[in-house]
Amino acid sequence: MKIDTEGQTRLDDIANKILSKDGSLGEQAPALCSYAGLCGSLSLPDFGAKQFSEYTDEGGRIISPVSAIECVTDYVRTVEFLNGIYKGILELKRRFPGEKLHIMYGGCGPYATLLYPLLRRFSKDELEIELVDYYAICVDNAVHISRQLGFNGYIKSVENGDVRTYEPKGRPHMIILEAMDKALLNEHQVAGEYNLRRFLREDGLFVPDVVDLSATVVDDLGSAVLGKLFSLQGDVRERVGAVMEGFLISGRFELPDNLEGEGKVVIKTEVTIFDDVKLSPGTSCITCDTTCGFFDSKDAVGHDLEISYKPGEAQNDISLNLVPGNPAKVLVESDYA
Ligand SMILES: C[S@@+](CC[C@H](N)C(=O)[O-])C[C@H]1O[C@@H](n2cnc3c(N)ncnc32)[C@H](O)[C@@H]1O
Repeated sequence: MKIDTEGQTRLDDIANKILSKDGSLGEQAPALCSYAGLCGSLSLPDFGAKQFSEYTDEGGRIISPVSAIECVTDYVRTVEFLNGIYKGILELKRRFPGEKLHIMYGGCGPYATLLYPLLRRFSKDELEIELVDYYAICVDNAVHISRQLGFNGYIKSVENGDVRTYEPKGRPHMIILEAMDKALLNEHQVAGEYNLRRFLREDGLFVPDVVDLSATVVDDLGSAVLGKLFSLQGDVRERVGAVMEGFLISGRFELPDNLEGEGKVVIKTEVTIFDDVKLSPGTSCITCDTTCGFFDSKDAVGHDLEISYKPGEAQNDISLNLVPGNPAKVLVESDYA
């Protein structure tokens, strides 16, 4: 297959804009559109006909290939992931000097968006890539594009598999998985990470490193943080328990007694991609605020709030309950200094 040298030059320009230290979204967003355009022009001839189907089961949904492509234009998400992954690869080169780094990319989608824009910054002797996606058309298309961009020397293996059960070929230095939605709803991030983290090499990097969920309440006067709801990170297997099945994201929070008017419960999502590269709440589609219910402040006095749901469930499946709280603490003589 003929290497598309114009495409390679365009890719270099895209990477320079996205990774530039003083890059602005005004330059980065068009660069990502250019990436989507480039991949569109290099895609399989029959790609269009197969891209709309979406698979759903009790664990959540696997967005269609066309929706996976649209993630490119969740601009801040894509820019920050690419910057975090680039920084992470440089860190792994320091941690494993002289080793070829094995990167497993779960949920690569049709355009392998979180990796291909970076590849020309490294040689094929430095990186080997394992591409995995649930949909055959995604991996087939990603491989088709890789050949035209001269990336086939980097590809170690290509699998059509489910990240919830998939076993990587060896112990990757880095595992990338972005199959998530806000508040870890709708998709398979928790189940996929639960499965894959254990295959990571010691001192390897999982991307994203941490997903933090916190509960907040908004009333007529403003917004208050109630506390941390869940953190998805390196200890996922201990935190989620011996088996993923039946696990609930849940928390119980004391409510302030002086709320005014209607109380709205909102889950905030923050993603640490790697090190100081983060997606703050509200900056992308995967970290936008999730409203999970309302209550009358009068009913909340003396009550705690309980939130629970299964990772991968839909927003309207979140269970929210006001439960009688602990009685106010009564000070006794020994409490005084
Ligand atoms: C949010 S898209 C991300 C696409 C691309 N990696 C990006 O970041 O722009 C999620 C991708 O993960 C894949 N995916 C979701 N759940 C999966 C699962 N359980 N097993 C394998 N692939 C999955 C989807 O097919 C889709 O391509």
